[in-house]
This record gives sequence, structure tokens and C-alpha cells, in this order.
Amino acid sequence: MEKIKTGISGFDELLNGGIPKNKHVAIYGGPGCGKTSFSFEFLYRGAQMGEPGLYVTLQENEEELKENMEGTFTDFKDIDQLIKSKKLFIKKPEKFDLESVAELIEDHIADHDITRAVIDSATIIHLSFGNELEYRQTLFEFLSLLRNMDCTVLMTLEAKKARKEQLSFNIEHYVMDGIVNLYNLEQADKRIRALEIFKMRGTDHSLDLVPFKVLPSGIKVYSGERVF
Ligand SMILES: Nc1ncnc2c1ncn2[C@@H]1O[C@H](COP(=O)(O)OP(=O)(O)O)[C@@H](O)[C@H]1O
Ligand SMILES: [Mg+2]
Repeated sequence: MEKIKTGISGFDELLNGGIPKNKHVAIYGGPGCGKTSFSFEFLYRGAQMGEPGLYVTLQENEEELKENMEGTFTDFKDIDQLIKSKKLFIKKPEKFDLESVAELIEDHIADHDITRAVIDSATIIHLSFGNELEYRQTLFEFLSLLRNMDCTVLMTLEAKKARKEQLSFNIEHYVMDGIVNLYNLEQADKRIRALEIFKMRGTDHSLDLVPFKVLPSGIKVYSGERVF
């Protein structure tokens, strides 16, 4: 199976080379766990490798998101340049529904050959549905539509609880091809960041809980190290 390199230091090793091409992967975690940073770097690294990407933001507006990421990743000096050269697109749809998001992605595939997309966050879309069954059906249709597009997609998902033992499973966990869990683990006097690949259809992968850091030069995953 063809793999897409995320370009995130240490992460592709956990997946024996990267995310299987055209799969849909949930980045799941509590607030401040690094979901936005992780997803943004996925597109940034792709853009640098010449693979155009679209960031669909449903929270911050385009400018806020860019400013936040420039503040987090101070070494990423070429964000504006990648945007100008149409390797990186940041868009906030007018309506927060799956149809508008699908349309944005379709348009950017047709017009700009994007091969990577991020939806941040899918939870916002979920919240706009009153009815779980209706959401499940719409999400399923949305993912089937995406499956026919040549695009690898990350969707962030907000966990209500930050603790590892307290994470629960949502509809998205059953229908997505992959799940990466991000944690802010409590230790005696501090928190440490850790991640795990919980599910990834189509490839063998590590089952380890591994520490990571958000650094000015990018996210660094310490794939050989233990958390405790
Ligand atoms: N320059 C930085 N250096 C180290 N950590 C940072 C930096 N900027 C932001 N962070 C960390 O990243 C966190 C936010 O990450 P973010 O990707 O927005 O999380 P999420 O999307 O899961 O809420 C902040 O709470 C902060 O701890
Ligand atoms: Mg976020």
C-alpha cells in the first residue's frame, strides 16, 4: 500500500513509513493536546515536499490560525511563501456542515491538485446535528464521497476528558480508517505529551504510547522512548 509521509519527526516510523494514501484519520484529544499543531505540520511538510494541502478551519479564522501556527512553529519561516505559491491553503467555510466542507475539498482538488486536507474540528460539525442517527448517516456519506477523491484527510476530534482512562468512543472512531490519540498525561508535578496510533486500516503500526514535544522546529515524536 502506498504511504503518505507526514514529515513529522519520528511519527512516520510508527507507521512503517507513513499514513496509507487516501485514508481518513482522526486526530483525537482533549483541549491543548496539540491537534491543531499536528494537523498543520502535516500540511506544512507536505507543501514543502511539493504536495499541496488544504486546511479547513471551523474554529479560528484563517488569519488567527496562521498567527497561532507562526507563534508555535517559529522556525517555519516560509508559511506565507507556501500560501502564495498555492502549496498551502487555509479556508474557513461559510457554513459548518459536511456539504460545504466536501465542496471546499472538491474545488481545491480540481483547481489546485491538493492531495492532503485537514478538517479542524469535526466535532464542531457533529455539534450542529440534533440527531445522532442523521449525523452518522451524513458522516458516512461524506467519507464515502471522500474515498473517491485522491486526498489523504486528517480530521481533528475533541475529547471531553483529557485523561487516558477516560476517553470514550464516538461514532467517528468506528467509521474512520485511522485514529491517533494525543494526550496530556498527568505526572507528579507536570504534564507530558504522548501519542499512540490506536487504529490504522491497511498497515501494521506501533502500539506504543510514545512521548512527543511541540518545538519551534516542529513536533518531535520520540518513537523509541517510553512515557514512564
Ligand atoms: N511555541 C511553543 N512551544 C511549545 N509549546 C507550544 C508553543 N506554542 C503552543 N504550544 C503548546 O501547544 C498547545 C496548543 O496546541 P494546539 O495544537 O492548539 O492544541 P489543540 O488543537 O489540541 O487544542 C498550547 O496549549 C501550548 O501548550
Ligand atoms: Mg485546536
